[in-house]
Amino acid sequence: MRTENAVDPLSEFARWEMPGFAVLATADHHGRPSARWVDVAYVDHGFVYFTNHASRKAADVAVNPVAALCFAVLDRGRQVRAEGTVARLGEVESDAHFATLPRTLQLLAWSSDQRAEIGDRQVVRERFDGHRARFTGQEIPRPLHWGGYRLTPQEMEFWQRRADEIQDRVRYRRGPDGWHTTRLAP
Ligand SMILES: Cc1cc2nc3c(=O)[nH]c(=O)nc-3n(C[C@H](O)[C@H](O)[C@H](O)COP(=O)(O)O)c2cc1C
Repeated sequence: MRTENAVDPLSEFARWEMPGFAVLATADHHGRPSARWVDVAYVDHGFVYFTNHASRKAADVAVNPVAALCFAVLDRGRQVRAEGTVARLGEVESDAHFATLPRTLQLLAWSSDQRAEIGDRQVVRERFDGHRARFTGQEIPRPLHWGGYRLTPQEMEFWQRRADEIQDRVRYRRGPDGWHTTRLAP
């Protein structure tokens, strides 16, 4: 099969005009998968998202530090997949992103324990109001249970619907000497 040395797929990703959210799939230590949407806050040498460190997605990558992201623009027939290793961001990087969030999202990060079962949404409302009162007139610091993760891709796939239904599907794989691309049957 023909493979070609290629440019970094993250540069290609930037040209594909994907939305700022994607489905994130993780698996626990038994290999049991789960998937959910996340906001991809920014893309540098990987895909960075933020969440509660007690959440299922965070617990999964703590024991099984690999994940997959799937982006799509369905009305343009486009999908981009990324698979790779996941690492927690440093405290300084998480602090920097937290500082850019609207105050309501900062208060929500303080108020919502994504692992907890709650009888009523009022529970979160009361915590939210309590934190809002506590932080009145001050900058809100990042809670230690909240922070970022970066998925560094080892493999990416770009899929584009074509008018003749012979879709384009191109895979990028990271090798010891850089990225290689291969065209796959659609
Ligand atoms: C469009 C969209 C974006 C979301 N973005 C995030 C996010 O950036 N971080 C997050 O923790 N949850 C986000 N959520 C909620 C998650 O999908 C999920 O319900 C929650 O994080 C709990 O997931 P978990 O128990 O599997 O960890 C988002 C949901 C939607 C629909």
